[in-house]
Amino acid sequence: MQKLPATPGTLPEYAQLLRAGGLVSIPTETVYGLAADASNSEAVLSIYETKGRPRFNPLIVHCASLDMAETLAEFSPLARQLAAFWPGPLTLVLPRRPDAPLSPLVTAGLDTVAIRVPGHKLALELIELVGRPLAAPSANPSGRLSPTTAGQVVEGFGGRVPVLDGGPCPAGVESTILRVDGEAVIQLRAGALPRAEIEALIGREVSDPAAGGPVLAPGMLSSHYAPHARVRLGAAAPGPGEAYLAFGHCSLDAGGPVRNLSPAGDLREAARNLFSMLRELDASGAQTIAVAPIPSTGLGEAINDRLLRAAAPR
Ligand code: TXA
Ligand code: MG
Repeated sequence: MQKLPATPGTLPEYAQLLRAGGLVSIPTETVYGLAADASNSEAVLSIYETKGRPRFNPLIVHCASLDMAETLAEFSPLARQLAAFWPGPLTLVLPRRPDAPLSPLVTAGLDTVAIRVPGHKLALELIELVGRPLAAPSANPSGRLSPTTAGQVVEGFGGRVPVLDGGPCPAGVESTILRVDGEAVIQLRAGALPRAEIEALIGREVSDPAAGGPVLAPGMLSSHYAPHARVRLGAAAPGPGEAYLAFGHCSLDAGGPVRNLSPAGDLREAARNLFSMLRELDASGAQTIAVAPIPSTGLGEAINDRLLRAAAPR
């Protein structure tokens, strides 16, 4: 595949581009985002067009601070308590303020808005310079693997979008999304902030969306994060011709390509490597990627969620 460099440019230049309604791919601690001025409908529309994203799937708005976030949504005391994780990999879905300076396209017509303050120095500086919240989904063509390096963004969009290179993303999976509704805290998406850490802070249970209830995060379709190859989960070893994504100690002399998410069995390291290693195995041309079983404790919840969607029928 063609390798193109990330776009060189200064932060003020990228800020100017965003203020003028352009798109810029930005680094965050989770994955790269495809950012636009959240108040500018033309700019937000070009996010949907560039990603090929369905318009009913709303975007996360990135703020530089809790103060900026409070211009967009109503924060209950519980929501404010959860904001202690900011800057960090947590997205809060909260009632949208009627006077929020947001294009209606950002929220896809919902009366809630998803907000986070990313834990990445360059992202925070850029939002400060723009002086407005930035709408940003992950910077991948819709349905595909999320990018964790600038080079992957350049590849994904064929070099059409300028990329602010902040190095590889340290967390490697997307933010945890919580809906705060009265006293209830509902996890809409498992992510880089483990459930147990959230429960420890608020001293109450983080629940799951009611089975059979309304889909609360419109983007949580079952097939997502998909490589081109088929994905087979829970594989103790690869079958003939399969690529293999291992976890923990592994003494295979496999015929096919192998990557190990974390030889030491460390889930943080595994999360950081997940999307990049799936890409590498996909690029090997194997028809099927077999994946080792991964514990579902801590960050394992988010890793297994992404793997299930990668393996879902398409
Ligand atoms: O780590 C992340 O969260 C990355 C980085 C770039 O910040 N962003 C990201 O965005 O993963 P995206 O668009 O790939 O996923 C956003 C998810 C979608 O599933 C969407 O449906 C959900 O957030 N969402 C957005 N607004 C919502 C709302 N008001 N209510 C419920 N779900 C919402
Ligand atoms: Mg995404």
